[in-house]
Amino acid sequence: MRHCIKGGQIIDPAGGYMGIGDLLMDSGKIIQVAPELSGNEGEIIDARGKMVIPGLIDLHSHLREPGREDEETVASGTKAALKGGFTAIACMANTNPVADNPVVIDYLYHQAKEKGYVKVYPVGAVTKGLQGEELAEMGEMAAAGAVAFSDDGKTITNAAVLRTACEYSTLFNLPILLHEEEPKLAGSGVMHEGYWSTILGLPGIPSLAEDVMTARDLLIAEFTKAKVHFCHVSTKGSVELIRQAKSRGVKVTAEATPHHFSLTDESIQGYDPVYRVSPPLRSAEDVQALKEGLKDGTIDAIATDHAPHTLEEKHREFSLAPTGMIGFETALGVAWTELVETGWLTPEQLVMKMSANPARIINRSGGSLKPGEPADVVLFDPRQDWVLEKSQIVSQSKNSPFIGRRLTGRIEAVWVDGVLKYSKERFA
Ligand code: DOR
Repeated sequence: MRHCIKGGQIIDPAGGYMGIGDLLMDSGKIIQVAPELSGNEGEIIDARGKMVIPGLIDLHSHLREPGREDEETVASGTKAALKGGFTAIACMANTNPVADNPVVIDYLYHQAKEKGYVKVYPVGAVTKGLQGEELAEMGEMAAAGAVAFSDDGKTITNAAVLRTACEYSTLFNLPILLHEEEPKLAGSGVMHEGYWSTILGLPGIPSLAEDVMTARDLLIAEFTKAKVHFCHVSTKGSVELIRQAKSRGVKVTAEATPHHFSLTDESIQGYDPVYRVSPPLRSAEDVQALKEGLKDGTIDAIATDHAPHTLEEKHREFSLAPTGMIGFETALGVAWTELVETGWLTPEQLVMKMSANPARIINRSGGSLKPGEPADVVLFDPRQDWVLEKSQIVSQSKNSPFIGRRLTGRIEAVWVDGVLKYSKERFA
């Protein structure tokens, strides 16, 4: 159980250690981090030329269990997450049955314990059946271990329902994770409304659909003082609204996904349904605003919105295909390539947004390599280029827009609670 990762570049902004050093772990915990350790080091792992970072934590994923085990299961999804450097993931409530009661939350913990490769943090629904009208059993789900509440995939359009949910959530000190899209403004849109929707002849979803709901919910968050988190922010307008609210002292947080800050609506030119996602891929101007928001701290976290769909479901015409793309296995590579290699973020900032900040938002341990923390650790080679091949995808679904794309930065090994669960060569 005793391992020492030696000579790597340790990037632990939350724990305050940055630089070449050795990391000793034992019995599932970080024991010591220092420039050079010697004596009683247990098994030694040579990390020279590599980076050692805290295990990534994903605030936003869809494991599809229970109900759509043909798309993903707790086992296949957590295995894909592990390969992507995640040691803990929050999974959304839009399963079948919906996770709107403590039985489903218990079930997910049970499956994770039996079959999971990484820690699983279930999110409970805000409303029964995600119908947006009647509050779900929030108290009982909190008692069963739900880490947050969300109707993700759907917007809570009834402001009174959201107000009550926000007030209620403060009793448990759990955040509400919001999917923002005003359905009447989105109408029958299937992609971002703009130049490309016009050229392609596809109905558009205006940025306004997201901005209107973001503005409303910032007011509700301010009024109720609830912990509110904005999922998959995609528009320039939303970034600016969140920035202004934060500068007034409103305590909200926000995430962006790798696909929203790396792809634009121009990708839809070939009508490939792999690019259909909710919210839709936006314009280059929106992508720029997301990067600025990530840089100045308006956007606290990077989350995958890993949304598996089978080949059969996605192999339909663009307007009929379901929304969503998988993201666990490419998140760090895409973020490193798009944000760090280009100078938008420092490695420390990226690590904060993919580990410490998500941990803080859902109030879990992790995100740091401080002694006493769980030994959730990733060995990462920031210089290695790689190309995702479909045959290498571990997730049960293969709906990734990044297949065939060259990415920089590769996960070499992952420890969860001090156990080596993944190395480039094999899964434990
Ligand atoms: O594209 C998406 N797919 N966005 C969501 O918010 C939900 C997700 C899904 O469940 O497939």
